[in-house]
Amino acid sequence: MPKPKVLVTRRWPASVEAKLQQLYDVTLNHDDHPLSAEEFKQALQHYDAVCPTVCDSLPADVLSVANKRCKILGNFGVGYNHIDIAAATQQGLIVTNTPGVLTESTADIAMTLLLMSARRGAEGDRLVRAGQWTGWCPTHMMSSDVTGTTLGLIGFGRIAQAMARKAHHGFGMKILYVKPSPADQALVDDLQAVHCPSIENLLPQCDYVSLHCPGGSDTRHLINETRLNLMKPSAHLINTARGDVVDSKALIKALQQKRIAGAGLDVYENEPHIDPGFLTLENVSLLPHLGSATIATRTAMGEKVLANLAAFFAEESLPDRVV
Ligand code: DGY
Repeated sequence: MPKPKVLVTRRWPASVEAKLQQLYDVTLNHDDHPLSAEEFKQALQHYDAVCPTVCDSLPADVLSVANKRCKILGNFGVGYNHIDIAAATQQGLIVTNTPGVLTESTADIAMTLLLMSARRGAEGDRLVRAGQWTGWCPTHMMSSDVTGTTLGLIGFGRIAQAMARKAHHGFGMKILYVKPSPADQALVDDLQAVHCPSIENLLPQCDYVSLHCPGGSDTRHLINETRLNLMKPSAHLINTARGDVVDSKALIKALQQKRIAGAGLDVYENEPHIDPGFLTLENVSLLPHLGSATIATRTAMGEKVLANLAAFFAEESLPDRVV
């Protein structure tokens, strides 16, 4: 029996690529170039499984290419807003993702950004590198406390909960959250977390606001000018979710006008083409979508895709089926 044909769209950790090579007739992307729409269409026509990742765009016109061989998109990533899920469903394509294994590393990056933004870490680093540090003085680069302050979480899934644990147990932060469905009571008790009835209710109470909702049309520009205006002038906004959850232009304006104190961003609208307005601001800390970028996490993500492919080709139930 010939091995199933699998296409992997970007480089994956070496140990996972080696396993793929043992198990499948796999095509790897040795030069790690982003695939064009045409390359995706051909992949869907010539492979049994295509394994995209969060920077690949799979809109309806690509997914609906004629004469498809592909039956499964084994996505390397928990987020799948880059795949038109309605079109995938309509085309009979199975989609899987990689939940659970990137929770702690992504929450760590959210805390990193919170600390960087609060304590002006990136700004300080730039100052030292530019040779502009003239020495310690009592009023130099004063910043905001983190310990004992209030953190608001928009979305309260796995990553938000992990961040809440770090913030509450590590930094004594008070936790507020908004979530459409009720949160687990034991967790709420452990964190002494307070449920807010709306984003409007949460925002004015927080020193830090961290976003943890999925991307996509339902949450596009959830944080807009009106909502930014509800934040305290001393507050910081952290985004490790998806770039389009925040209206970039409105955030740039709020940061320019010091209507909020700072922001820490790991994700952007139209990634990796960051709005140039961010680049000239001192009060924003910018990371290149590093949330899950630890060796252990990226390897575990690859292993999750392997598990989903193995179940698919064995005709077993899929561990992480999206549709
Ligand atoms: C995901 O898996 O959706 C993350 O954004 C990757 O870090």
